[in-house]
Amino acid sequence: FQPKVLAGKRILITAGPTFEAIDPVRGITNLSSGKMGYAVARAAREAGADVTLISGPTALATPFGVARQNVKSAQQMFDAVMDHIGGQHVFISVAAVADWKVVNPSEQKVKKTGDGSVPELKFEQNPDILASVATRTSLAGWPYCVGFAAESENLIEYGASKRERKGIPLLVGNIGHNTFGQDDNTIILFDEHGHTILPRADKLTLARQLISEIAKRIDKNSLF
Ligand code: C5P
Repeated sequence: FQPKVLAGKRILITAGPTFEAIDPVRGITNLSSGKMGYAVARAAREAGADVTLISGPTALATPFGVARQNVKSAQQMFDAVMDHIGGQHVFISVAAVADWKVVNPSEQKVKKTGDGSVPELKFEQNPDILASVATRTSLAGWPYCVGFAAESENLIEYGASKRERKGIPLLVGNIGHNTFGQDDNTIILFDEHGHTILPRADKLTLARQLISEIAKRIDKNSLF
């Protein structure tokens, strides 16, 4: 049984990878399974929140009571987030958004040539969804923005500076770079006071702890 610490709150969550098309049948993606984001969505709903999940391609079932919108590319995820962000109390950006997209993906399948020449891909940067939402934080302090960071080294140092760079009150660092697809995780919470380690546990347990940490911080924030 989870206490309803987020009753009456609207929460928008992104999860999973994004998929950047090269042509109609090929693309570039990453190894995010969506498990952490879906666990956070489930935990938020258990805590009484009204939850909207914007999901990149995953093989996961929608958590009970969660409204889900599927997207593929980072641009589609950006558009869906911007469509839904109005009126949200909390935005939790768990998705592993592709940093780059292919410029001018081909409308037709790219054909192999007989002479062994290979296609050249040109990339451009995707919009940073979390940073864009963070710049829209209202004077009343919402949406309260939570980011995730997967680092392979110097997590403490990188986590603290990434939180500031993104302009968000709370950043969740994943220890190790092999969290993708795993059922367990170890996370570190970075806020304005420093960092707190949540020891290794399954993703749902950590998601429930994260939700109660977010609820505490929202409660303390007199602006809410
Ligand atoms: O900068 P980096 O990709 O490490 O930051 C990770 C955090 O930023 C995650 O919360 C991720 O969901 C978010 N992000 C985003 N849009 C991007 C890149 C990252 O929302 N284009």
